[in-house]
Amino acid sequence: MLNPESEWFGFRPVSPDEKAGLVGRVFSSVADRYDLMNDLMSGGLHRLWKDSLVRRIKPQAGQQILDVAGGTGDVALRCYKKAKCNAAITVCDINPAMLAQGKAKAVNQGILRGITWVEGNAEDLPFADRSMDLYSIAFGLRNVTRIDQALREAARVLKPGGRFYCLEFSPGVTPFLKPLYETYCTKILPPLGGFVAQDREAYQYLAESILKFPPQEELARRMEKAGLGCVRWTNLTGGIAVIHEGWRL
Ligand SMILES: C[S@@+](CC[C@H](N)C(=O)[O-])C[C@H]1O[C@@H](n2cnc3c(N)ncnc32)[C@H](O)[C@@H]1O
Repeated sequence: MLNPESEWFGFRPVSPDEKAGLVGRVFSSVADRYDLMNDLMSGGLHRLWKDSLVRRIKPQAGQQILDVAGGTGDVALRCYKKAKCNAAITVCDINPAMLAQGKAKAVNQGILRGITWVEGNAEDLPFADRSMDLYSIAFGLRNVTRIDQALREAARVLKPGGRFYCLEFSPGVTPFLKPLYETYCTKILPPLGGFVAQDREAYQYLAESILKFPPQEELARRMEKAGLGCVRWTNLTGGIAVIHEGWRL
């Protein structure tokens, strides 16, 4: 079955349309505390994971770079700095509240041009075929309703030879960490989200969606099916986070 995740909101069975609305509500609700929560819940590790991602991406001056589900702009801002401000970077996200936080962060850092902020759906990207050199999606694919459709869209907008990168949490953590990790996800994350972001349910969804996300091998297979080649992945921090990458052939 394609897109099995489209019928789950975390551990709750839902219709695909319902899922999109519920995910939208999660990010509208947490947008203004999203960055703070990322630091608290990962102990700052998300910054190192995003640094690793951007070291992999190696953004270069003159490239067209698309960061999908780019939210508050962490990956785009890193790419901007790495490409010495000379790449054309587009952040595409379905949620205007997350984009507004990202734009404000860029302005606070004195970045007024070089990054374009576009409201759009990863499953139906508002960009031309073969128009991008690089596509990234960080902690976004898990929230998309139809993952296979989003992967096909990534392949469509990439130029032949363009690179795809996905940074995502994974349920496939090393057995040594697994019990601790699952306890953290189910017992600590939701109350922390309730306390800091005033939305326990949002962080319960986050934890459940991690445990429901396809493990490394399965995501790699689905990337290949969508038209991406030379697929490989790198586990970070014992597989808590994973970078998948591939080429548009
Ligand atoms: C966990 S945040 C990740 C934000 C950012 N990439 C980061 O790493 O901090 C997930 C983002 O995915 C976005 N999102 C969810 N479904 C989407 C879709 N179908 N298309 C585009 N963005 C989507 C949400 O609005 C949210 O901003």
